[in-house]
Amino acid sequence: METKLFKINSIYENPDELEQAAQILARGGLVAFPTETVYGLGANGLNADAVRAIYQAKGRPSDNPLILHICDLEMLPQLAREVPEAAVKLAMAFWPGPLTMVLPKTDQVPDVVSGGLDTVAIRFPSHLIARELIRRSQKPIAAPSANLSGSPSPTTAQHCIDDLMGRVDAIVDGGSCGVGLESTVVSLAGEIPMVLRPGGVTVEQLREVLGEVRVDPAVTHPMAQGQKAASPGMKYKHYAPKAKVILVEADQDAFCQYVNANKKPGVFALCFSEDVPDLQVPVVCYGGQTHPEQQAHALFDALRRLDQEKAELVYAHCPSQQGVGLAVYNRLLRAAAFDLVEL
Ligand code: TXA
Ligand code: MG
Repeated sequence: METKLFKINSIYENPDELEQAAQILARGGLVAFPTETVYGLGANGLNADAVRAIYQAKGRPSDNPLILHICDLEMLPQLAREVPEAAVKLAMAFWPGPLTMVLPKTDQVPDVVSGGLDTVAIRFPSHLIARELIRRSQKPIAAPSANLSGSPSPTTAQHCIDDLMGRVDAIVDGGSCGVGLESTVVSLAGEIPMVLRPGGVTVEQLREVLGEVRVDPAVTHPMAQGQKAASPGMKYKHYAPKAKVILVEADQDAFCQYVNANKKPGVFALCFSEDVPDLQVPVVCYGGQTHPEQQAHALFDALRRLDQEKAELVYAHCPSQQGVGLAVYNRLLRAAAFDLVEL
């Protein structure tokens, strides 16, 4: 398949390109596009065949449900059977933005979107290009991250090109994504709000608005064999570079000493900028130790760079779990397949 590339500087400068991309979506095609979190691979979320094509292009297991993206609140009643008060509060506080809410679904949402569940995940992104594409296509857009299943989520158009060229109808290049990690997923389908995936909107922020909010144990711990996942995405190995990754929880001195003691060809450090001068192995840096926003923004590109540099074994310096740090920690734990060394 030929993949069209659209370079969009802004929604005002490139309306024709945006219209073409929106028409591809409206006709049932696949378009990768930027959001404030990561690039998404979009299709008309009410067209079951178009949604099936997403799973094919990504090589994604079909029981892992997708997020529907909307561009105004009027699209909500068509998709969610119930909108509890907590959802209204969160929408007021964090939409548009990096928050996805899981709500009971209507019959209009195809089963292929929800992976057969009776709930649907909905997000109202803040990225102007994403919103303009949704508005022009006049459809809720189903979009997982625009990577091949299993590889790190894309935060630039080049990442999408590397993974999806020839597999999708178009890629919209709108620059690099601000947050850099996928949205926070919170379920409001049960009694107590439950964070299924941490992201740019922090657990602390959710608690400020809602009071009690729980965090699914699978966010920070491996699931027991046979356990049912609240969010099917959590059971798959994820975000993984080709190298083996070991997450090392230690202060700066202990981390650098440990890595240097394990120095050999193919060994890399995925570290904070403060660690760099003390390390004797090749490094890929993912931000400052006390700057979780920087770490979030840099992490997925760093994981892809380690592959390009042919790293075989990567010691990753463990981030703090405060604020956005919890999302960074959650992604790194999965990249490391839960291999954590505490010093
Ligand atoms: O930031 C994001 O959320 C990006 C951009 C493109 O919006 N999208 C994204 O989609 O990360 P994806 O498909 O890679 O991740 C969706 C996550 C998965 O972990 C999936 O299991 C969960 O949301 N999910 C979707 N529908 C769900 C549902 N009904 N119940 C529980 N979890 C659900
Ligand atoms: Mg994904």
